[in-house]
Amino acid sequence: SSTKLLIKGGTVVNAHEMEVADVYVEDGIIVAVRPNIKVGDDVTVLDATGKFVMPGGIDPHTHLDFEFMGSETIDDFFSGQAAALAGGTTMHIDFVIPVNGSLLSGLEAYEKKSKKSCMDYGFHMAITKWDEVVSKEMEIMVNEKGINSFKFFMAYKGALMINDELLLQGFKKCKSLGALAMVHAENGDAAYEGQRRMIELGITGPEGHALSRPPVLEGEATARAIKLAGFMNTPLYVVHVMSIDAMEEISKARKSGQKVIGEPVVSGLVLNDSWVWDPDFITAAKYVMSPPIRAARHGKALQAALSMGILQLVGTDHCPFNSTQKALGIDDFRKIPNGVNGIEERMHLVWDTMVESGQISVTDYVRVTSTECARIFNIYPRKGAIRAGSDADIIILNPNSSFEISAKSHHSRSDTNVFEGWRGKGKVEVTISGGRVVWLNDELKVFPGSGKYVEMRPFSYLFNGIGKADAKYLSSLKAPIKRFRATT
Ligand code: URP
Ligand code: ZN
Ligand code: ZN
Ligand code: ZN
Repeated sequence: SSTKLLIKGGTVVNAHEMEVADVYVEDGIIVAVRPNIKVGDDVTVLDATGKFVMPGGIDPHTHLDFEFMGSETIDDFFSGQAAALAGGTTMHIDFVIPVNGSLLSGLEAYEKKSKKSCMDYGFHMAITKWDEVVSKEMEIMVNEKGINSFKFFMAYKGALMINDELLLQGFKKCKSLGALAMVHAENGDAAYEGQRRMIELGITGPEGHALSRPPVLEGEATARAIKLAGFMNTPLYVVHVMSIDAMEEISKARKSGQKVIGEPVVSGLVLNDSWVWDPDFITAAKYVMSPPIRAARHGKALQAALSMGILQLVGTDHCPFNSTQKALGIDDFRKIPNGVNGIEERMHLVWDTMVESGQISVTDYVRVTSTECARIFNIYPRKGAIRAGSDADIIILNPNSSFEISAKSHHSRSDTNVFEGWRGKGKVEVTISGGRVVWLNDELKVFPGSGKYVEMRPFSYLFNGIGKADAKYLSSLKAPIKRFRATT
């Protein structure tokens, strides 16, 4: 493979501007971006005339090789990343799950799983219990292990769920470390009660999943997490925003000046709940994820919110289980492993649904699929930009070409695809990962072990001004309080 690469004549797009220019790459790094770069004949040249040259997608939310609900996701770090590269995503951030509550053991396990990586990746860490050891381990994660975000599950009662007291302890610790707190926002106790109600009514099919955890449970938990993060004065990132209810809480908080980030995922943006009525169990069960994929008006409102900047970036929550695994819940929807695919489809679906439809600009596309993620997790401009000095993670997208999604042709190991049959405009024709052309002419050239772990530093831009606000608050408390003694 060549270590020198010239991408000629394309429209180079960054989050805030675009220009016709050449991009010259050497040893995995972008060396120059300007018109008419002249090179020798030892350089591989790719013609991008009439096409968009953009930073590779960064997926902020994936679960590869994840043991969950008695199954393990069907994509591991190799197959999931290969699928990502075929769809124009060149980096993802996966969730490390602690082992018996130990963050270090959890990380060790994920370091093993991710050895076969063929693209760059980073980690978030889930917090599933609280004690002095966890607190100390959070410090190690941030200060030594390159992890700057922690996810708290407000749902999955009896498994990953934590209570408000733990949430507050976790928020406090995140704040002191400059790490970003993330929440899965659903009221887990209420969802548990909702499930019991469905079973009592004899509703055991996949529709019971959607009916047991309606939007109000997501809205309530989102509001609660936002208010508690506000009480602690620490930034908050809400993962997989799936409803109008949750989105409106985020909108309200942002208008009041609170630092809240909202992440819709591609399934929630483009799909709807028609699956609930499918008489075939597997066809319905493949859509089961939490929070559930809602009625169409929710997806439409999330798209509008994304276009207006109320929501900031798009993830996938790629967490695929195959038909056999989904069939574990054939008699009881509570046993259907929760999760859908998306890592390969995100770039195409966001282009088709948001850009091709005229809802966002091409520069906004780069912002919501790549740059904003890099900024939030403090890896910008190494990632998320086409400019000299940045990593050569680049895609060439042809707006006049079309794509089609099918389990028959996708690169995930799953035998189903929730976007089956989707046809759209705009195709990722070339993917460059670390300066190597890995996707060209519908062919993947990937090697296990070629992907690098990307360390992420604390105190991203979201923490700007937090200390000042605290100082102001503290000084206001120190003002003398006059008390008067009753004199009768
Ligand atoms: O159903 C889902 N979302 N599965 C993945 C785990 C999570 O909650 O993100
Ligand atoms: Zn495994
Ligand atoms: Zn979640
Ligand atoms: Zn997830």
